[in-house]
Amino acid sequence: MKHYEFPDGARMPGLGLGTWKSKPGVVGDAITTALQLGYRHIDCAAIYLNEAEIGQALHGALGDGAVTREQLWITSKLWNDAHAEADVRPALEQSLRDLQLDYLDLYLMHWPVALKKGVLSARAAEDFVSLKDIPLEATWRQLEACVEAGLCRHIGVSNFSRVKLERLIGSSAIKPVVNQVEMHPLLQQPALVEFCAANDVVTTAYSPLGSLDRPPSMKAADEPNMLEHPEIVRVAQNNNASPAQVLIAWALCRGTSVIPKSVNPERMKQNLRAAELQLSPADMDSINVLDRHFRYVNGSFWALEGSTYTVANLWDE
Ligand code: A2P
Repeated sequence: MKHYEFPDGARMPGLGLGTWKSKPGVVGDAITTALQLGYRHIDCAAIYLNEAEIGQALHGALGDGAVTREQLWITSKLWNDAHAEADVRPALEQSLRDLQLDYLDLYLMHWPVALKKGVLSARAAEDFVSLKDIPLEATWRQLEACVEAGLCRHIGVSNFSRVKLERLIGSSAIKPVVNQVEMHPLLQQPALVEFCAANDVVTTAYSPLGSLDRPPSMKAADEPNMLEHPEIVRVAQNNNASPAQVLIAWALCRGTSVIPKSVNPERMKQNLRAAELQLSPADMDSINVLDRHFRYVNGSFWALEGSTYTVANLWDE
């Protein structure tokens, strides 16, 4: 398994298990199985509303000695309603309680979007707080304080554009070590990956399989299915692998970390094995030309009329 090393020597397994959309009642068993299969990197978030059940599974595996805390890499994310100075640390402490951990390996600012306290998903302009009122830099300073307090070992961001990352890197004492963004052959974002690499920021690819299990409100009727894309299927057959394995291997081969979600033991096993799949330069080239800058998670749910957020200023494009 490929690992990404940070300036302090910490090593993050390149492939992690995603838990967005992993439902309570199912996610606990999925985590237990994943740890048995050999997953050591679990990607969580408060807004997935499943951290307490993940915590029970982690507690079980750590308690019976199946894994040690040092072998695990656990990421969680600050929800948008806790960007205010007084709310950051309590939000992280709640995730720690739910996950039954003393510290996180990585804590990410989930979106460059602030919501009023208690708002889980925005329904009206009044639900938002402008970034003029709570600048991203102010939230970041609180994340830095969480590192200093020993609550998390590393901090990073998610859904950040190059413009926002550049501003944060320029103004912060502790630099972000990860930017987690949607990334797959239809949304390759080579300039963002390159900028991150040049600034010691590891890029983590979310929705690497296209997140077909997104809620209907987040789906377009005519969106492409990467698992059935003829070129991905061709490369899969060429390598005696599945399309999902090709998508995962492509992400790792180009130097990004990747967090495919599954709650199915067979698919979890298959996805983990993809970390050993080395695609040839010719296969990589044939996938690299598929880029369409197509987002499955396009952020339009933050662009409600009357709010200061637009799809254009979210992605800075
Ligand atoms: P399941 O959890 O039932 O396995 P993403 O990681 O892009 O969010 O995609 C997650 C979706 O892809 C889920 O619907 C998940 O279903 C499915 N999935 C995960 N692994 C595979 C695989 N190896 N083959 C096909 N579908 C998969």
